[in-house]
Amino acid sequence: MLVNIHTAALNGLDAVPILLELNLSKGHDFFMVGLPDNAVRESRTRVMSALENSGYPSDMACETTVNFAPADIRKEGSGYDLPLAVALLVAHRFAQNDRLDTMMFVGELGLDGSLRPVRGMLPIAIEARRMGITDLIVPAANVREAAVVNQVRVYGADNLRQVADWLNGADTLQPTVIDTRANFYAAQAQHTCDFADVKGQQKVKRAFEIAAAGGHNLILIGSPGCGKSMMAKRLPSILPPLTLAESLETTRIHSVAGKVENGGTLIAQRPFRSPHHTISDVALIGGGNTLQPGEISLAHNGVLFLDELPEFSRSALETMRQPLEDRQITISRTRYTCTLPCSFMLVASMNPCPCGYYGHPTRQCVCSPGQRLRYMNKISGPLMDRIDLQVEVAPVSIEEMASNQPEEPSAAIRERVVRAREIQAERYRTSPGIHCNAQMTSALIREHAVMDDAGRQRLQTAMERLNLSARAYDRILRVARTIADLDGSTTIQAQHLAEAIGYRNLDRADWAG
Ligand SMILES: Nc1ncnc2c1ncn2[C@@H]1O[C@H](COP(=O)(O)OP(=O)(O)O)[C@@H](O)[C@H]1O
Ligand SMILES: [Mg+2]
Repeated sequence: MLVNIHTAALNGLDAVPILLELNLSKGHDFFMVGLPDNAVRESRTRVMSALENSGYPSDMACETTVNFAPADIRKEGSGYDLPLAVALLVAHRFAQNDRLDTMMFVGELGLDGSLRPVRGMLPIAIEARRMGITDLIVPAANVREAAVVNQVRVYGADNLRQVADWLNGADTLQPTVIDTRANFYAAQAQHTCDFADVKGQQKVKRAFEIAAAGGHNLILIGSPGCGKSMMAKRLPSILPPLTLAESLETTRIHSVAGKVENGGTLIAQRPFRSPHHTISDVALIGGGNTLQPGEISLAHNGVLFLDELPEFSRSALETMRQPLEDRQITISRTRYTCTLPCSFMLVASMNPCPCGYYGHPTRQCVCSPGQRLRYMNKISGPLMDRIDLQVEVAPVSIEEMASNQPEEPSAAIRERVVRAREIQAERYRTSPGIHCNAQMTSALIREHAVMDDAGRQRLQTAMERLNLSARAYDRILRVARTIADLDGSTTIQAQHLAEAIGYRNLDRADWAG
């Protein structure tokens, strides 16, 4: 008796179709061929126990051969449990259905027969639709993730028994239907944190607005408790809303990483990722035996926050450089090579010195100038080269904290950001791959960052007086371009440059004493 069951394997961010073929013949052995890895080999043990605990005879003694086709793709993970169990049930005539060839099954089984979620359900559902599958049967915890894809009936099951009974004609499973678009736009309106919660800090908020408007990376320098993390967390709320296409890209990455929460569907807000500084390079960048997207890819289309930047290992900071530039990362291992997108805004924070209180209005810093200098030198030059805005954050005064003065909500800031982004979209219409001012090359800066005479004079004076590096020059012009866009001005004027120069705190020769 030969049974064929459709299932799918993950290959990078995509799913590929797999046909599970099961044949019964005389004998007692169990063979599994077609490049299964250990988790797939263990599948047999889980499936036998799940069948027994679902009320089927444990003794299905027959010679069983299972083949996963095509045989040249490595089969990994536990998602083949359900298709294997279904194949066995059908082969032994405990389940019957004449539409099996348009169904797909994916899911891990517990020993008790319950179904457990697997990674990558979104790309699997997308592949199922491409293949013309009509019914996709998945663990209940994955069902909303799979149901993002319409045109396929998606059924979430709690356990194996429900699946078997449903195949036999019972109504134990119901398709889950989600209005993906309506759901997405409704979820998008629900921001959890807002800049209105932040008292005072006008200058820092303005820096965030500029960063959001031009896509500039940002570093905050300030003592503990002055609100750096609080404000960083609110950056997604002033970025342009995530589009449906961006959401699909980001959700796909989270899906493959197994990071879509139980019952989760399309991600509607720009992601905010805040990895701890002890994170490994692989967890930050991505990799592993079976591909695990890193934090930089989980932050795709959103914000990566590196809190306490100098505490990150030098190698972590070094490996960030290239993906920051390319907005994608290629991961090569012996078993796979894969390119993942990682277009994110970087926000970093740091204390001004090891004790944290250098420059604090009321507390005394206990660090020596040498200690301060060593601390500043920890942050890698090449990474700092990609951070356009450097902003000092001072704590707000007690009076400001206690004030009842309402603060501007994120929605109002976002409106200005969106307008500035529209100007940029028009400007870079003919520059492929460039979307915002932060991405301007030197050539584009010469073309688009046109200063008026007073502006040129202002920059010249500042370069000399503040002893700014030549590198800082381009960075100032990029930021000034964004400030002029927020101002609706085609040329860059003296006041735009003056403000941009103010965001180069760390470049000044007098920093750290
Ligand atoms: N400007 C502010 N307005 C409102 N609350 C603030 C402000 N600054 C700091 N806080 C409060 O102080 C807490 C600590 O801030 P946090 O962002 O963790 O500081 P940092 O990251 O700079 O150490 C915040 O959770 C918030 O409750
Ligand atoms: Mg903090």
